[in-house]
Amino acid sequence: MNIPNAVEGAYRWQVDRREFLRHSAVAGMALSPLIGALAGACGRDDGEAADSTAPPDFAARYHEAVRRAEAAGPVAREIRLVAEPGEVGVAPGRSWPTWLYNGEFPGPEIRVREGERLRVVLENRLPDPTTVHWHGVPVPNAMDGVPGITQPAVPPGETFVYDYVAEPAGTYMYHSHVGLQLDRGLVGPLIIEEREPHVAYDREYTLMLDDWLPAEPTPASARSGDGMGGMMGRMDGMMRLFDPARPEYGALLVNGRPPADPPVFEVRRGQRVRLRLVNPASATALRVAIAGHRMIVTHADSRPVKPVTVDSLVIGMGERYDVLVEADNPGAWSIVARSILGAPEPARAIFNYAGAARGAPLDGEVPAGLSGGRTLRLENLRSIELDPDERRVAPDRQFDLDLSWGMMMNPGEWTIDGRQFRDAPPLEIHEGEHVRVQLTNRSPIHHPMHLHGHFFRVGNLLKETVLVPAHMGRVAFEFTADNPGDWLFHCHNLYHLEAGMARVFGYV
Ligand code: C2O
Ligand code: CU
Repeated sequence: MNIPNAVEGAYRWQVDRREFLRHSAVAGMALSPLIGALAGACGRDDGEAADSTAPPDFAARYHEAVRRAEAAGPVAREIRLVAEPGEVGVAPGRSWPTWLYNGEFPGPEIRVREGERLRVVLENRLPDPTTVHWHGVPVPNAMDGVPGITQPAVPPGETFVYDYVAEPAGTYMYHSHVGLQLDRGLVGPLIIEEREPHVAYDREYTLMLDDWLPAEPTPASARSGDGMGGMMGRMDGMMRLFDPARPEYGALLVNGRPPADPPVFEVRRGQRVRLRLVNPASATALRVAIAGHRMIVTHADSRPVKPVTVDSLVIGMGERYDVLVEADNPGAWSIVARSILGAPEPARAIFNYAGAARGAPLDGEVPAGLSGGRTLRLENLRSIELDPDERRVAPDRQFDLDLSWGMMMNPGEWTIDGRQFRDAPPLEIHEGEHVRVQLTNRSPIHHPMHLHGHFFRVGNLLKETVLVPAHMGRVAFEFTADNPGDWLFHCHNLYHLEAGMARVFGYV
């Protein structure tokens, strides 16, 4: 992963260039197994000639990306993100050591207007290398924050500058893309405001719906190494058997707060309230509903959709949905997000009317939408940016990929098309191509599959994360190869990613 010295004189770095180059070599030696695997795949040693094993020229790509940002004009917003050890007080009177951005949990909300140039200076005060990934935003490849694929991981004590034009508008998140750091506290919301929302609203709130691990995250392989015995010991339902990779979460949170100490969102009667629902959880898909209200879905994964009214929706890891709630039923109501696997206790927030006659919601209040009514179906959503009459062009290239697991033999193993990431060559595409991907889930658990750098079309919807249902669930999507680079495609269950469920789409 060394960047050749010849590069050094030729490129101007935003940070201290020489420091960066010197330490990127260090980072290359301090790779965690995951980064090592990523770096290995990057080498493309799939039987091709010698030059295909050359490391990507990170410096050149970075320089090019910065030039693109500079061409867009001056920096509109500069943020300093310090990744550092910190404490989180989730249960009353108890705090846990973890890793945070700027000491906040979740990390600070970054907010820019569509088309503005955003510059984020990441300072790594962790004991391990780190990066920041801008989940969902189709940034230039060198700004994507995937260690070993788009940049060397930033070593402890070093800084790295991300610099790009924030677009398109929408609700996104940012998070570390190194190892299991996402399941600590290294995640925060990123909001790119639209110039003209397609649906009017009076106020808005962002809800980070997270699973919280009261321990240091450990790889699935470490936990499933004791085989069936260990699995049975921890089993709290069939899902445990099907997904031994899943850690024991201590609580489900809204904006870092447990159900016993929920955040309160103030509203006034007559207002239309936009809720930006984000699922940054590492291993928990959630069903969300609000007592006493319906939700009008207006955006899926940041992109505007024709509004659809529902009583509940399921949001997978990495997905976002924006909903409008008409505040027409005064009181104090629970917003609830329940794991689709059951435990732990659902996450909760309060939708609270100013001067509400009704007091605080009952502790056990369960929105009716969780057990009945209309639930969101992807087929019912239509992206307003897609022309329904548009003729579908035949794909230039198609990939049929199975999502599989190691079952009882290798319970910690998750694969795409029978291969773990470290053993798989990149999926080769060419700029301008229309690419179709057909996914078949041959495992007993859902997988939220996420593509970096592009939006894809699934049905009549633009998205970049899609839940593939368990037990032979099939999802097909299409995207245009319009953002050259090496792009990770993976399951957003962090433990599945870590256990091999990833591929790279590489432009050749
Ligand atoms: Cu949220 Cu590979 O990303
Ligand atoms: Cu998965």
